[in-house]
Amino acid sequence: MKILGIETSCDETAASVVEVTPDKSHVALLSATTATSLALHAATGGIIPEVAARNQIKDIIPVIYSALEKAKTSPADIDAIAVTFGPGLIGSLLVGVETAKTLSYVWNKPLIPVNHLFGHLYANFIRTNIHDPLSNFPLPQFPALGLIISGGHTDLVLMKSHTDITWLGGTRDDAAGEAFDKIGRMLGLAYPAGPVIENLAKNGNPQTFQFPRPLMYDKAFDFSFSGLKTAVLREVEKRKALDAQTIADICRGVQDAISDVIVYKTLLAAEAYNVKSIMLGGGVAANETLRNSFQIALNTKYKILNTNLFVPSKSLCTDNAAMIASAALFQGENENWQDITAHPTKKRKDFSFPSALYLHVSE
Ligand code: KG4
Ligand code: ZN
Repeated sequence: MKILGIETSCDETAASVVEVTPDKSHVALLSATTATSLALHAATGGIIPEVAARNQIKDIIPVIYSALEKAKTSPADIDAIAVTFGPGLIGSLLVGVETAKTLSYVWNKPLIPVNHLFGHLYANFIRTNIHDPLSNFPLPQFPALGLIISGGHTDLVLMKSHTDITWLGGTRDDAAGEAFDKIGRMLGLAYPAGPVIENLAKNGNPQTFQFPRPLMYDKAFDFSFSGLKTAVLREVEKRKALDAQTIADICRGVQDAISDVIVYKTLLAAEAYNVKSIMLGGGVAANETLRNSFQIALNTKYKILNTNLFVPSKSLCTDNAAMIASAALFQGENENWQDITAHPTKKRKDFSFPSALYLHVSE
């Protein structure tokens, strides 16, 4: 069975073909094409929604055809189309959703709407190659804990099955990636700043700046990163100019603070709910320090947990369409294309989107 995934929730225009074995034990990536308008947003230090959507209108059809071509698949060979319906930028979402609806009608294929946030977690079910020697590599097992850490979201969810999902907590202010990006802007770094901060932090002294770790020991599984941003601003304002070493030291302090809080709270939740798997997803999960900190913490202090850590390959951490196709395979339900609309927002504690109807709220 082959699924064409389409993702346009932010600045990327992405399409991908994935193939799944009948027992769903093996999801293979056949192709992935992404066009991005990121370079156009770099100068302003953030995404300009209208610029993103205008580029997506231009890119969407070539990107879809490129993904089909790379997968050596004709539209007739596709079994279903999966598309991100939200959350995200409304103009961007509309491009993907309306294109997918049109193709579903014209090609006569089922259409599966996918929640972008769950898409990030389902990147953990994808093998990057159909001939992957790790074809017996186990898939994440339930109960599982999902941590979505991206530019727009920081959410912790408990998954008892693909469809029995409880939201445990999330950020009360800035998302983890947003904190990286906003702090990067204060330091004059390029957008998106996450990867830049990771790189500069390699030369930073971990002792120079001890930034706050908000809500670290709070009982709720919530996060808060705006205080960290303020703490960095204070350090920047104290100085007339920032030399390269100070910037590297700040980057190290920021990355350590974000990483400490995320690892500590996630493992606390893993312990509380005795999960078999922890799945990371979202752009911030590409951060090597964070990935290593999780693995080290699991191998040492938390080894009693008997929990396996799943982290997508780096290219599947940031926005992509393969994760959308993968989520559709496990979570999705076909819906009438006439009933599918783009939903830009996610209310806190309310994932009430069509393909997340099964999400219960814990409080
Ligand atoms: O998942 P994603 O591609 O888009 C959203 O759904 O938001 O995440 C983008 C975010 C940006 O904030 C970016 O700075 C951050 O992920 N990011 C990173 C790294 N790579 C991307 N943050 C920290 N370290 C990285 N290596
Ligand atoms: Zn994302």
